[in-house]
Amino acid sequence: MLTPPSISCLVSFYKNRHRLLNWYTELLSQSKTQTITVHRLGAPRTIVTANPENVEYILKTNFANFPKGKPFTELLGDFLGVGIFNVDGDMWSTQRKLASHEFSAKSLREFVVKVLEDEVETRLIPILENAALNDNIILDMQEVLRRFAFDTICQVSLGMDPFCLDLSRPPPPLVAAFDAASEISAMRGAAPVYAVWKFKRAFDVGLEKDLKDAVNLIHACIDDIIRSKKDKNCGGGGDLLSRFLGAGLEDQTVRDMVISFLMAGRDTTSAALTWLFWLLTGHREIEKQAVEEVTVAIKDGGLSFDDLKEMNYVKACLCESMRLYPPVVWDSKHAANDDVLPDGTPVYRGNRVTYFQYGMGRMEDLWGKDRFEFRPDRWFDENGAFKPVSPYKFPVFQAGPRVCLGKEMAFIQMKYVVASVLRRFEFLPVRSDPPVFVPLLTAYMAGGFNVRVRRREQ
Ligand code: HEM
Repeated sequence: MLTPPSISCLVSFYKNRHRLLNWYTELLSQSKTQTITVHRLGAPRTIVTANPENVEYILKTNFANFPKGKPFTELLGDFLGVGIFNVDGDMWSTQRKLASHEFSAKSLREFVVKVLEDEVETRLIPILENAALNDNIILDMQEVLRRFAFDTICQVSLGMDPFCLDLSRPPPPLVAAFDAASEISAMRGAAPVYAVWKFKRAFDVGLEKDLKDAVNLIHACIDDIIRSKKDKNCGGGGDLLSRFLGAGLEDQTVRDMVISFLMAGRDTTSAALTWLFWLLTGHREIEKQAVEEVTVAIKDGGLSFDDLKEMNYVKACLCESMRLYPPVVWDSKHAANDDVLPDGTPVYRGNRVTYFQYGMGRMEDLWGKDRFEFRPDRWFDENGAFKPVSPYKFPVFQAGPRVCLGKEMAFIQMKYVVASVLRRFEFLPVRSDPPVFVPLLTAYMAGGFNVRVRRREQ
C-alpha cells in the first residue's frame, strides 16, 4: 500500500498560504498516488486528492460515507442556513428532488433564455457599445460580468431585478451583503489556525459581526419578497422562488434554498467568463474560430435554446478555460466512517476529504505535457466531434448524485454571453502581465479584468 506524503507543519502552511493552490498542485504531482495528507492545527486530518478513481469513489461509489459534514456546514451555516448547498441526508434529498424536477422543466429553460435576452440586449451590449465609442473608457469586465450574473440569477431565483448592471449606481445593498457574507464565510475556513472565528462569533466582534449584519439584511430582503409573493398568491411566476413556494415548503426552507441558488449561480459563471475572455485576448486564432461559430449560429438574428446547444467550439473554450481556472477550486467532504480510498489511502471517521479541481486540471498524468496550454481542440475527437471527458477527471461541476444542478443553465448562460459579445466586440487588456487567480468560495481575478473595448470588424 502506498502511503501519501504528509505535511504536518504549520510553518509551511503559513509560508505557502498565498500560493496554496500551486503548492498543493506541486505536492500532488510529486505524489505517486496524486493524493496527500495535510495536518493543520485544530483542523481534522485532511486528505487532498487529484486522483480520478478516488474522486469517483468519494462522489459516487461510496457517496453515503462522504457527506459535506458538520465542519463544512458549520462554516457556511450562518449564511446558507438549511439550503440545499449546505445540508446532507434527507434534508438534502428532499430539496434535490424538488429542484431537479423544476430544473428539468421546459418552462424554466424558456424563462432563463428570456431573462438572458433582456439582460444582454438592454444592458450588457449598450455598456459595451458605449465603451467602444470612447478609447478613454476602461471597463472592469469582471465587475460587469458579476453584476450581469447577479441580475440574471436574482431574476431567475427570486423574480426580482436588482438593476446591478447600471454602472452609474453603487451596487444595491443586497449585493454588498452577499459579497460580505460569502467572503467572511470563506475566510472562516482559510485561516491558518482553525476555528478562531468561533470565539469572535461568540463575542459578536470583528468580521463575525459584519457577517451577522450581512445575513440579517439578506434575510430581511428575501422575507419581503416572499411576503409580497404570498400576498399575490405566488403570482404563478416562472422564477424558482414562486415554484418552491408553490410546492408547499416552509418559508424559511424556501428562503435558504434560494440563497443557495443565488450563491451557486452568481460568481461561478462570471468567474468562468472572465477567465475565458482574458485567455482569448492572448489566443486570437482561437478567438477567431469561436467568432466564426457564433456568427453561423446567430445568422438569423436571435439565439434559441437549440442554437445554444449546438455551439461546441464555444463549449470547448469554456471547458478548457475552466480546466485551468475552475470557478470552484476545491470541495470537501467529511468521512462518516473509516474507509480506504481506491489508491490505498486510509480514511478515518471525521477526516476531511478534498478533491481538488484546480490541481486536477494541471496534472500531467491527466492532460499530458501541454497541460498548462489553453487548447480547446483537446476537447474534440479525430472526427471533430465534441469529446466529453469523465466528470471524475474533470469535476469542475462536481459529479455523482450531487453534481451541480445548474450545469446546463450555466452553459446556456455562458454561451449566450460569449456569442452576443464576441460577435460584436473585442477586448484589449490594459495590463500585459498575467493576472492573479485568487480562490475564495468562488475564484476571481485579483484587481479585476480591465479592458478597452473595440467594435469587431465584420
Ligand atoms: C460555471 C458555472 C458553475 C460551476 C463551475 C458550478 C460548480 C458547482 C460545484 C463544484 C458544485 C458542488 C459544490 C459543493 O457541493 O460544495 C455545485 C453545486 C451546485 N450548483 Fe453549481 N456551478 C455553476 C453554476 C451554477 C448555476 C448557474 C446554478 C444555479 C442556477 C448552480 C446551482 C448549483 C446548486 C444548487 C448546487 C448544489 C447541488 C447539491 O448540493 O445537490 N450552479 N456547482
